[in-house]
Amino acid sequence: MIKAILACAVGILLTVPAFASGKTSNSKSIQRGEFLVNYGGCQDCHTPGWSEHGGQAPKDMLLTGGGTNFQGPWGTTYAPNLRLFFSKLTLQQWIQTARNLKARPAMPYWTFRYLSDKDLADMYAYIRSLGPAGEPAHDYVPPGQDAPAPYLKLVLPQPPAVQPAGH
Ligand code: HEC
Repeated sequence: MIKAILACAVGILLTVPAFASGKTSNSKSIQRGEFLVNYGGCQDCHTPGWSEHGGQAPKDMLLTGGGTNFQGPWGTTYAPNLRLFFSKLTLQQWIQTARNLKARPAMPYWTFRYLSDKDLADMYAYIRSLGPAGEPAHDYVPPGQDAPAPYLKLVLPQPPAVQPAGH
């Protein structure tokens, strides 16, 4: 009996800090983050096999990086392992990163502009809920240097000579 009470007390002690620090990591936030990540196309590039399997992958592969990589005039870029990346960031650091990110192709960093801090917090909650897994993706390789496959080789069109409307 005493053991049971102790076990219960320890259980409460262990869960209280999780609640206190986890304002953003309730299951609603995780679910909405999963929606934003999937609809935002993050898995297309950051999850190995995602596109090849019509938008599916085992949980231990999700967002582990190197899914789709790109070679073009900028060199060769490898989609980073977001589970390792997020495991090292606080929520505040992630919001800062998302607001200031200027990545090389083909990372569509401008899409973060449409997300509120709450949206970013939900994405953070989802990716952190997956936990760290996998290996880091290959580092960026500058143009003209040997870069390991796989990657998509891109021949870019001239961008149209129109002024962007601006935001
Ligand atoms: C079309 C492919 C593609 C899509 C879609 C994509 N990414 Fe990326 N992402 C990349 C590549 C490639 C890089 C590496 C760019 C570089 O080396 O500069 C990258 C880099 C990043 C980085 C920078 C990591 C670091 O180490 O600095 C973050 C964060 C990131 N992506 C998050 C996301 C999220 C979140 C989404 C979904 C909203 C997303 N990406 C969608 C391809 C993609």
